[in-house]
Amino acid sequence: MKSNADIKHTFLRTSMNKQVTITVPATSANLGPGFDCLGLALALYNRVTFTAVSTPTLTIEVTGLDVEKVPTDESNLIYQTANCLFERLGKRPSGLHIQQENNIPVGSGLGSSSTAVLAGLLGANALMDGTFTRSDLLALATAEEGHPDNVAPALLGGLVLGVMDGAEVHIEPLPIAPQQVVIVTPDFQLLTKDARAALPTQISRQDAIFNASRLPLLIRALQTADYDKLAMAMQDRLHQPYRLPLIPGMADAFAAATAAGAAGVALSGAGPSLIAFAPDHHTEIAAAVTAVFQQNNLASRSWILPIETSGTQINKLASQGTI
Ligand code: HSE
Repeated sequence: MKSNADIKHTFLRTSMNKQVTITVPATSANLGPGFDCLGLALALYNRVTFTAVSTPTLTIEVTGLDVEKVPTDESNLIYQTANCLFERLGKRPSGLHIQQENNIPVGSGLGSSSTAVLAGLLGANALMDGTFTRSDLLALATAEEGHPDNVAPALLGGLVLGVMDGAEVHIEPLPIAPQQVVIVTPDFQLLTKDARAALPTQISRQDAIFNASRLPLLIRALQTADYDKLAMAMQDRLHQPYRLPLIPGMADAFAAATAAGAAGVALSGAGPSLIAFAPDHHTEIAAAVTAVFQQNNLASRSWILPIETSGTQINKLASQGTI
């Protein structure tokens, strides 16, 4: 005869809801001269769990950093990208519960919107047993973002070069020596669209040569952890000169990071975060940059992060029907 525990177990097994968890790393795009084409994955993660439910409802629960900045209705970016994929697949769950755990600050230049886009696409595909490949999904994510420098490293992990060829994107994973980086994020709002609007539409031949010569040097220096070359290799003339003045104290923060031991410093993505590479003194660099933002009346968050090498992870399981 079955015990009560056995009966309960049987009931739970038959009322399972399909569940998928997507874990996506933060990314730092550009790294100085690699504007819109080079990005690095960092060991800081957003985690999104999709649960298919039988009632026709959408519920979104957000925990962690910046919850007040994340909508919990149909305008939520994760839901919107998942919804696009359901439409492409021609199938969708009756209802959906999305649980979003944020560890990456929103709108900070650390690829938080890329984590949402990738989680939405990969989550919807896995939840509905879709047949889109990772490369199909990367092309969709790149089209959504407009450039591959966050989504490509977030999907693959490590240092990745993304080369646009019309609508096609060629992805080149690049070797990088294991190391830690310093990230400091001032509490300052700089929308990517405004940071892009500040850029000139034409550049001089000298500036093109300046960046074209530094990008391969940067790739080489990161591969070999050649910190002596990084200061020159991370210089840029395509975007940073126009963006630094938009962020209070950022030019001084670059100087403070260098004085505290950073070998190379760059704006992370479109900002407002700063990324610094150094063989040591990471804590001192973070403290020096934080102090400069403080002098400019800006609080900040900082991290010392290893490079992340695994990329986006998918965990699929049938969970107990608890919602
Ligand atoms: N490459 C992009 C930029 C990253 O610098 O504008 C932010 O989306």
